[in-house]
Amino acid sequence: MKEYTDYLDELLDFLRIPSVSTLPEHGDDMIRAAGWVADAIRKAGIDFVETHVVDGGHPLVFAERIDDPANPTVLLYGHYDVQPVDPLDEWKSPPFSPEIRGGAIYARGSSDDKGQLCTHLFALRELSAKWGDKWPVNIKIIAEGEEEAGGASIEKWAAENHEKLAADFAVISDTAFLKRDTPSIDYGLRGIVYMEIEVTGPGRDLHSGVYGGGVMNPGSALARILDSLIDLETGRVLIPGFYDDVVAITETDRRLAAEVPFEESKFIEQAGAKTCWGESGYSTYERITSRPTLDINGITCGFQGEGAKTVLPRRASAKVSMRIVPNQNPDDIARKFCEHVNAIAPPQVSVAQVTGAPVTVECRKIHAASGVLLNPESPHISAARDVMEEVFGARPVLIRSGASIPIATIFNVELGMDVVFLGFGMPDDALHSPNEKFEIAQFYKGIEAVMKLLERVGKR
Ligand code: BES
Ligand code: MN
Ligand code: MN
Repeated sequence: MKEYTDYLDELLDFLRIPSVSTLPEHGDDMIRAAGWVADAIRKAGIDFVETHVVDGGHPLVFAERIDDPANPTVLLYGHYDVQPVDPLDEWKSPPFSPEIRGGAIYARGSSDDKGQLCTHLFALRELSAKWGDKWPVNIKIIAEGEEEAGGASIEKWAAENHEKLAADFAVISDTAFLKRDTPSIDYGLRGIVYMEIEVTGPGRDLHSGVYGGGVMNPGSALARILDSLIDLETGRVLIPGFYDDVVAITETDRRLAAEVPFEESKFIEQAGAKTCWGESGYSTYERITSRPTLDINGITCGFQGEGAKTVLPRRASAKVSMRIVPNQNPDDIARKFCEHVNAIAPPQVSVAQVTGAPVTVECRKIHAASGVLLNPESPHISAARDVMEEVFGARPVLIRSGASIPIATIFNVELGMDVVFLGFGMPDDALHSPNEKFEIAQFYKGIEAVMKLLERVGKR
């Protein structure tokens, strides 16, 4: 394995920038991280680099090098934003002071997605030394800083810039191997609809003895609503019409799933859970990849400290995500969710807007994106499988994943582009969790794989 230690040092610098897209206090860090990406692109021999800010969002970095329009064009995508770091005290080393332990880089964003984005940038730098001043492949790059926040800027910009993004296919390195020794290429991702419910009642937090029983508790109203969303016995989402547009698992899915060495015991172990749970009638692999689901992501209500405080809270809120599958429409699901929330609350709650109602229920969408399902037998995916096999020494399996990359759907559906998920993460990289890591061997081999794929395209 070739070691690219200089590139490793550069990646560590990139990881020191705390580019958390969802927290407003990191605005300057987002600009710094975008600048870092733009510089790395220039160092790879691409002079045309633009930064776009859409509606005050985080910068998009777009770059291209077209040496001959007759050559094939590849669009490379990655995101430089990262998830928040909490709970901070569970990190063994600080999230933005990358530390190398046991052959892995520990830092927020190491695997998701700075390390993987860098495999593209450094592969290009290697290739540019090889190719000289006549590149056999046209390269376009788009890097965003809002993937973890729903991707509003790139969605809008892409809709207005189809021409600029046009390419033969897109490469996204932002996914993970199914198992340590089993490279995998995703051919489907779920979409997401992220909602917030807020119940407000009295004008301030009240003494629960002095006022309890005399005013409705927003916490109880919220609990009733949340309990109505999913059946814990059958794992079914209870929102009317939720499953209307779900496409059944296909023969191709079944055939490919049969080759996927998914191990339930390993899954439980990685989750640190006691046992599996989910929608009856489906395997765990199906439940987490091809079936839609609903999860409460957070509940806020009343006193959260240790010990007791006798308080009747003035508000209660919950954040709920629904992972949707291709063909389910995110706007339709968001609407059905809100209709259900309003319908399920007790009558006096559902007429919340009327003066005199005991609590007010508000339901809003935070972000939403459709899922994507690619043709697993496309020539680009086949080429990527060959390259991965060469570099990692095992034939990649074709899998569906349950997470979301909103722009992938836009590339595929709106721009009609084939997409290749050339992912180098490991299943235990702890994305979004404390102690996220990216393995150095995956980083080095990732650079090789991207190089090989682009060289192959150049030979056509
Ligand atoms: N890189 C992940 C998606 C991913 C992870 C795909 C593992 C396949 C395997 C991405 O950064 C992510 O976390 N997406 C968010 C999107 C959301 C915030 C709009 C997700 O799925 O929660
Ligand atoms: Mn990612
Ligand atoms: Mn992520």
